Amino acid sequence: MEKFDLKSIEKEIRENLDKATTTEALGLIYKKYLNKKGKLSLIFRSLGGLSNDDKIETAQKANKIKEWLKNEINKKAGELKEKKIEEKERNEWIDITLPGKKPPIGRLHPLTQNLNKCCEIFQKMGFSIILGPEMENEWYNFDALNFPPDHPAREMQDTFFIKQKNREKMTSKEKLLMRTHTSPVQIRYMEKNKPPFKIIVPGRVFRSEATDASHEVSFYQIEGLMIDQDISVANFKAVIEEFYRAFYEKKIKIRLRPSFFPFTEPSFEVDMVCAVCNGNGCPICSQTGWLEMMGAGMVHPNVLKNCGIESEKWQGFAFGMGDRMAMMKHKINDLRLFYNGDLRFLRQF
Ligand code: PHE
Repeated sequence: MEKFDLKSIEKEIRENLDKATTTEALGLIYKKYLNKKGKLSLIFRSLGGLSNDDKIETAQKANKIKEWLKNEINKKAGELKEKKIEEKERNEWIDITLPGKKPPIGRLHPLTQNLNKCCEIFQKMGFSIILGPEMENEWYNFDALNFPPDHPAREMQDTFFIKQKNREKMTSKEKLLMRTHTSPVQIRYMEKNKPPFKIIVPGRVFRSEATDASHEVSFYQIEGLMIDQDISVANFKAVIEEFYRAFYEKKIKIRLRPSFFPFTEPSFEVDMVCAVCNGNGCPICSQTGWLEMMGAGMVHPNVLKNCGIESEKWQGFAFGMGDRMAMMKHKINDLRLFYNGDLRFLRQF
């Protein structure tokens, strides 16, 4: 009589195999019968009490079952793997004939395009591009530019001051603000460089103003500064006329009107003939035919002195213009359109 009921073990294995539908279940079967402590392995280890013939017969039978089971497990594992792949292919099917999705393509903001264009034109005339900080101190933004302390000229520009502890006790170089114009970069540059020079400073400026069609709390300016010997207003006019000709791609008539800035003397406002109506009068120029485009003037001797430059020997002009020129170029009558981020507007550029 057999000591081990191999028949019923085989039957049990068969039932187990039939029920196994996952690789995990197959793993469990392997463990249960074929591992070191598995049921079949135990048989081999307990053959001791049998007669020689029984030993051989039982071992052979058990071996057969072992081989058969290994085979079955492999076969079934293969099938399960196959099935998984098929399922994946069925579910993750890609229709390569579908039209693709167009990725949205970005572009430079019109004002950035505008600044780039201006820089390019001035660079061709030999100007260098210089940048400065957006957060400034009172010295660079006002004092060094010849704004007397308490002079109403400081009120001309509504300033965003930075909140600071003990501000009253600070020097003007410590008192921070958001720059109201790009002119402080003139000072920063002149402190470190010896004339002659020609620079252009594009950058963002900030003013605490109510917004309307021509005012924003933040906008872009382009500052120009040229210092050399024997520089006059005639040189300024020539540079600006050439700039407009290149920027608007046609000859633009300009005129200078007297004005006031603490850092220039004489100071003037530059008007250009409205490029939309060619001076005939239209809503963009309020029917006057002219548009105010920039502030400018001959750099005040005090400003040169503040930067250690001899004003008897060197002189020159400075100017500052804003986003108006971009409005003019694209015939846009509301500055706010450039700043509110409406893609329908921005995509046109
Ligand atoms: N900084 C002046 C402003 O913002 C413009 C200006 C620049 C005027 C340079 C004269 C010279 O209004």
